[in-house]
Amino acid sequence: MDESFGGGTTAVARAHSNIALVKYWGKRDAVLNTPAVGSISVTLDALHTDTRVTFRTDLGDDEFLLDGRRGDVTRVSRVLDLVRERAGHGQRALVSSTNNFPTGAGLASSASGFAALATAAAGAAGLALSDRELSILARQGSGSAARSIFGGFAEMHSGVAADGSDSYAEQLLDSSEWPLSVAVAITERGQKSINSTVGMVESAATSPFYSAWLDSAGDDLVEMRAAIAARDFARLGELSEYNCLKLHALMLSTRPALIYWNAATVAAMHAVRDLRGQGVAAYFTIDAGPQVKVLSLPADAAAVQAALANVPGVLEVRGSALGLGAHRLE
Ligand code: PMV
Repeated sequence: MDESFGGGTTAVARAHSNIALVKYWGKRDAVLNTPAVGSISVTLDALHTDTRVTFRTDLGDDEFLLDGRRGDVTRVSRVLDLVRERAGHGQRALVSSTNNFPTGAGLASSASGFAALATAAAGAAGLALSDRELSILARQGSGSAARSIFGGFAEMHSGVAADGSDSYAEQLLDSSEWPLSVAVAITERGQKSINSTVGMVESAATSPFYSAWLDSAGDDLVEMRAAIAARDFARLGELSEYNCLKLHALMLSTRPALIYWNAATVAAMHAVRDLRGQGVAAYFTIDAGPQVKVLSLPADAAAVQAALANVPGVLEVRGSALGLGAHRLE
């Protein structure tokens, strides 16, 4: 127990961010937050969120601090409500999270944040949940968070059940089973303009490419599973870039257009293609933000980071190995 939190029941958890190689965009059910398509990601060791949850009898409302500042408690309370329902009590909670990277700028802070919240909240409530149950819980905060329960390579299933019970992630490989490197080129430190939940709804409603996106997702998942099983890095990388650019084509064809790139984002993409021209196996992927993540084998990580650091507009480059799943810190 932690006295600074008034002696309530406390748990602390760490979860790492993840980057999808085959991405999801679109919801099957907005209330349950089930994705319209499956996805496959790698968990990133270098980017994490630490979250402390304390349930207390003397609070009228949940309180949420993100990096020391009061944050939006709505989605946090949604996850806490599910935990309270299972634990059979109505105690409100103090939640305090810290990210070791910029929040809300396309570095998947919601993925690490809600995976850490689900793990800490279940722990503070005294619930012994399986990883699958934690994944389902984390999903209801943010779809990508369902994958950050697991380390290494994870696959998220869209599921078909009306109650969302088969919409969870599973581990494909542990981080030690296929060590890869990811260089994260940060091109902007501010908050992104349109959050993914809003952007997804707009794409589904307005883009003529949305049905093609849904129809082609299954093929990408099959091919990515095969590339991972065969440890075929070139196939994994080529497919990651293709899937990323297909997503951004969907975003660009949304009305109004979702343009998440800036000049440095585009310059970094060209730098990665130039590296390949020089024989370095490096492949980019980009989420709903301006940052560029570059996959390589560990032996090429230093060359990739140096090339990205030279790109005009790149503010910082962080190297990462593949990370662990969400876990308690005591
Ligand atoms: O679940 P969210 O709101 O974090 O949305 C994730 C959207 C992408 O990062 C673009 C794709 C993905 O699968 O992570």
